[in-house]
Amino acid sequence: MITLNAIQFALQGNGFHCPVKGEFEYLANALILVDHNGDIAATYLPLDPDYQATRDALLQANKLTVLEQDQYLMPGLVDLHCHAPQWPQAGKGLDLPLYDWLQNYTFPLENRYTDLDFAKEVYGDVSKTLLANGTTSAVYFASIHREPTELLAQTCLDVGQRAYVGKVNMDNAEQCPDYYREANIEQAIYETELFVNNVFALKGNDSGLVCPVITPRFVPSCTPTMLNKLGKLVQKYDLHMQTHCSESDWARDFSLTQFGKTDIEIYADAGLLNNKSVLAHSIFLTEKDIEIIKRYNAGIAHCPLSNMFFANAAMQSRELFDHGVQIGLGSDIAGAPSPSIFRAAFDAVSHSRVREEGVDVMLPASQRGTAGSRISFVEAFWMATAGGAQVLDAKTGLLAKNHHFDAIVVEASKNVGNLRIWPEFDSPKDILEKIICLAQKENVKCVWVQGKQVI
Ligand code: GUN
Ligand code: FE
Repeated sequence: MITLNAIQFALQGNGFHCPVKGEFEYLANALILVDHNGDIAATYLPLDPDYQATRDALLQANKLTVLEQDQYLMPGLVDLHCHAPQWPQAGKGLDLPLYDWLQNYTFPLENRYTDLDFAKEVYGDVSKTLLANGTTSAVYFASIHREPTELLAQTCLDVGQRAYVGKVNMDNAEQCPDYYREANIEQAIYETELFVNNVFALKGNDSGLVCPVITPRFVPSCTPTMLNKLGKLVQKYDLHMQTHCSESDWARDFSLTQFGKTDIEIYADAGLLNNKSVLAHSIFLTEKDIEIIKRYNAGIAHCPLSNMFFANAAMQSRELFDHGVQIGLGSDIAGAPSPSIFRAAFDAVSHSRVREEGVDVMLPASQRGTAGSRISFVEAFWMATAGGAQVLDAKTGLLAKNHHFDAIVVEASKNVGNLRIWPEFDSPKDILEKIICLAQKENVKCVWVQGKQVI
């Protein structure tokens, strides 16, 4: 049996997680034991021989919290793609095409972040809002400015959110406005490397709760020299990397006409890809692209709601999932307005269903859609948790031994939000599906990151 001294606290209750891709496990009345580092030391189910003795010992040591019947423990949600400085823009300008949206709304707003007071206000709010929605790990694009981006990293550390933070790089004078562009490549690379080292050295970041991420915005905004130099940094420090990949017709065509290559080929040739790369969107992938992504074990941030506005086509989520490409979910604030990864999971399902059924009423049903392309609610939940963690190469996303205890409690009380459970009618699978469809911020009662309760 486990030594009680090694245990910081334990929870007893019902929960869900997905140890097997695309399937869920219902943890009925499970015990989850968390050690002093905030990692899961052990889990017990009622049929385990040590269950009762462990439970009694924990109770006696005053280390056990028992969840209510209408509360469900889950791994914390993973948001693989969020633009923190775009938070004030959420819900604006979504009628525009991507290029106009960036030039008219996004770049002027991102340029505001040289004002550190403004940065502090927005970054405090967006990180807390994501946490309150159950997002325990967030992958953030910031702006091109080093100091405000370090402030975002510090803010995440202060509020206790696991975060992957990138100073955005963009230097192509033909695509980036004069007022919002790197001064020159040497300066940009110097600032980026300084940023990387400063984030590693942040006070209180010894356990690596916040990681620096190399962040070329996307192909149109970066010169080939910039991409190559950023690739060298990725390799020198073995860093995470995030970027937009083949997001729209315009972005795809830009790469093909300018360089005669796809985005993935360009990123691979620049040395940017590894097993911790996060490729947002990835809509127009060739077979060769998919093979390259798999060879590097890179991952995709599926952003279904944003794709409905900007992608010009439906993500091939079913095929990528079945091909074994690593895939998780992103909010893509503010390319989509919702900070909730439950919402992203719901959208991943509904988006895939529109694709499966098709849209043109003039066509017969048999020709209208792409048969068999739906994503199930359980698969979407896997992407929101274990799948996202795999993309980041992080020991999170599961309520299992040797994983960091990043977790949330979702409550289905009658007084809160819209989520209602009827134990008489609802199986565990029904409950999980209801949570994905109906859970709101109000239902997220507790949030832990690395064993520390932050909400
Ligand atoms: N492509 C380049 N920049 C952006 C951005 O900020 N948001 C989205 N959705 N796509 C982009
Ligand atoms: Fe984006």
